[in-house]
Parts: sequence; structure tokens; C-alpha cells
Amino acid sequence: MPKLVLAYSGGLDTTTAITWLTKERGYDVVALNIDVGMSREQAVLEERGLAAGAARVIVEDAREDFLRYFAFPALAAGALYQDAYPLATALARPLMAKLLVDVAHGEGAVAVAHGCTGKGNDQVRFDVGIRTLDPSLAIVAPTREEAMSREMEIEYLQEHGIALAWEVKGSFSIDENIWGRSVEAGVLEDPWTAPPPDAYVWTTAPEDAPAEGVDVEIGFEKGFPVTVDGEALDPVALVERLNDLGGQHGVGRVDHIEDRLVGIKSREIYEAPAATVLFAAHRALETMTLSRQQLKLKREIAAQYAELIYDGLWFSAHHQDLAAYTASTQRFVSGQVRLRLHRGAVTVTGRRAESSLYDRALATYDREDAFDHASAVGFIDIWGLQTRVQARQQLLDQLPQALRIAQPRKEASE
Ligand code: ARG
Repeated sequence: MPKLVLAYSGGLDTTTAITWLTKERGYDVVALNIDVGMSREQAVLEERGLAAGAARVIVEDAREDFLRYFAFPALAAGALYQDAYPLATALARPLMAKLLVDVAHGEGAVAVAHGCTGKGNDQVRFDVGIRTLDPSLAIVAPTREEAMSREMEIEYLQEHGIALAWEVKGSFSIDENIWGRSVEAGVLEDPWTAPPPDAYVWTTAPEDAPAEGVDVEIGFEKGFPVTVDGEALDPVALVERLNDLGGQHGVGRVDHIEDRLVGIKSREIYEAPAATVLFAAHRALETMTLSRQQLKLKREIAAQYAELIYDGLWFSAHHQDLAAYTASTQRFVSGQVRLRLHRGAVTVTGRRAESSLYDRALATYDREDAFDHASAVGFIDIWGLQTRVQARQQLLDQLPQALRIAQPRKEASE
């Protein structure tokens, strides 16, 4: 039988997919579980996968690679889709596509499969990624081809003699990894309905969070977070620590109407405590270490960067270009930021950097002031020249009455 590698979460959909791909499509299925931080127990994965008919179940811990090569570069870029979504789900897909293709090559497989439906973004990200990396691999998407309800799936498995216990399923569709939790569907489909308490799992409701709040200090090295409260931590430990701490203080909830790539507006709830804290901290450090022009262009790059991640174009030259620009901007983004987490709010309360552009002697109003006040007059004279000339030549007679009141009179000497 030809071999196929399936991206396997261990849930009902992809477990049913193993049986379906075997019985209906005649594949020898290798179930590849890519752990990006929502791991079901390995024992459960193996039991379910093998019971459903997989030839093998492979579990790959990809959490560190996910943070180092996907989430942290997106953080350094400041990439938030539509200024709201830290892209946890979207960032994991190109990594999964890459690992599917690698394992397919190692196993001599002719096809790969994923469990995406036909109306989301994830199918696009998987398919585009896989086909970019290896156009010769066939792609099968059982859920897209033959959507079965939960009951049908359980029945289908039973028909094939597979009896497994399933967690009770809530009404939401959830995707989670170490960078964030994405929740959609169910009552959330009414955009006027407030998310019910059980939509959130990682974060305490802000009103129930400790009244005293907490201070946390994050250290960055060239744009990547490396310490929490002075302690050096590897990426996984660092993000887990901040997910816990932020979650306890109700930080990182997002309720957003999002534009999907396939043209649908959809109501999305996100929980991303660590990402929320880190984005705030990183941005604060950039305000110390980047010039005004760098900050401005970087915001534009960030929007494009976020969009290409969202749109599934990770493996593109455009991405390489934006990544190169971003990496260059991060050369001096090293230092520490102190933040206060309090009942859902994240507030930066301090920042310091070795290569800081903030110069106390220039900024101070004290006696040590090194700024030359006298030269301000000449600077302003030249800076304002453009508007004076324009006002005299073009605007003075045309400005509406209300705006003219405070204008210089035409006869004023120039
Ligand atoms: N809307 C987000 C995205 O497209 C999250 C999708 C989450 N998937 C899910 N099955 N809930 O990246």
C-alpha cells in the first residue's frame, strides 16, 4: 500500500481520518503528532492512532523550534494580524508543513494529509506550504472532502470495530499551542454575545485576578526574549512562565472580528498571555533603541509581515526579505523592560538598554541640561519656512474663516 503521512492531533477528526485514509483510500498511514505545546499524552496518542489503524505513530516535540524560528521572529517583527492576533495558529502551520514533508521523505511516502475543513485559513497554509516544499506529494484532506459530524465519526469508527473513549466536547472549535489559544464557533458566532466564561481556559477573568497585581522584568537580546526577572530561560520555559503569570493576572484575552483569507469575517477569541506581555515589552524596548524613522517603517513592515504569515506565504522570498530587514533592526534591541500585570492590563513601567538612544542629559529639565536652547530658534526658523512660504503664496486667502483667525497677517514681513 502507498504510504501517507498524516498531521495527527489525536482528536476525533484526525483519528477518524486514519481509519478513513486506510479503508477508503488504501493508504498505509503514518500518524505524525507535532507537539507545538498542546500535547495530549503520548500514550493516548499512540493508543488511539494504532487502534484507528495507523502503521506508526510518531511524536515530535517541536516546541523549541516553533518558538525560536517562528514565534520569536514574528515577535521581533511586531507582527500582529489586524493589530490584534499574535498568529499562534498561523505560525504553527508552516512548521507542520515542513515536518510533514520531511517525514514523508524519510518514510518514502507519496502523500500527506491534514484535518482542516474547507472554509478556514489553515487548509491554505498547509496546502501552500506543502506544495511549495514538494509539489510531487499528493495532499489529502479528509475533513474537507467528507465532513462528518461528531456522531458520524464515532459511528464510523465503531463500524470498523474501533471503540475509544473521547473527551466531552464543548461547543467551541479550539486550536492551541504554546504561543496562544484560538477559539471560535458555538455561541461566539453571534458577535454581540459576550464570550461565556468557559471560552477562556488559560486566563483568569480580570475581575477575579489578584487585586495587588505583579511586576515582571523581561530581558531581550537582539529582539529575542531571554530572561524573566533576571533568570535566563530557554524559549519554552520562558513562554510557559509568562503564560502562567499573565494568565493568573487575566492578561492576553482578545475578542476580534477577523478577516479570513477566504473572504469570511469571523468572530475569534484568543488567549495569549505570554505573547501579549512580550509584544508590549518588545515594543517598549524598541522605543528606546530605534530611531523615529526606523520605528515608523518597521510598523509598516510589521503589518505586511503579519499578513504574509496569516496568508500562508511563509515560504516566500518576500518573507525572507522582510525577515532580513527585521533582523537588521534588532541589532541593538537588547535590554530589560519592567511591566506591571494587573487585572488584565499590561503596563510598561520601566525600560533600559545598553545602546539606548535616550539621552538623559538631552532630555532633562534639570541644571545638567546639555541641549542648546539658543539653537532651537534657528532650527524652528528653518523648519517653519515651508509652511510660511506656502501660507503666503497659496493658503492665506483660501483658508476658511475659522482657521484664519490665528494665521499671520499677509503684510507680516517675510
Ligand atoms: N483564525 C485563526 C487563524 O486563522 C485561528 C484558527 C483556529 N482554528 C481552529 N480550529 N479553531 O489563524
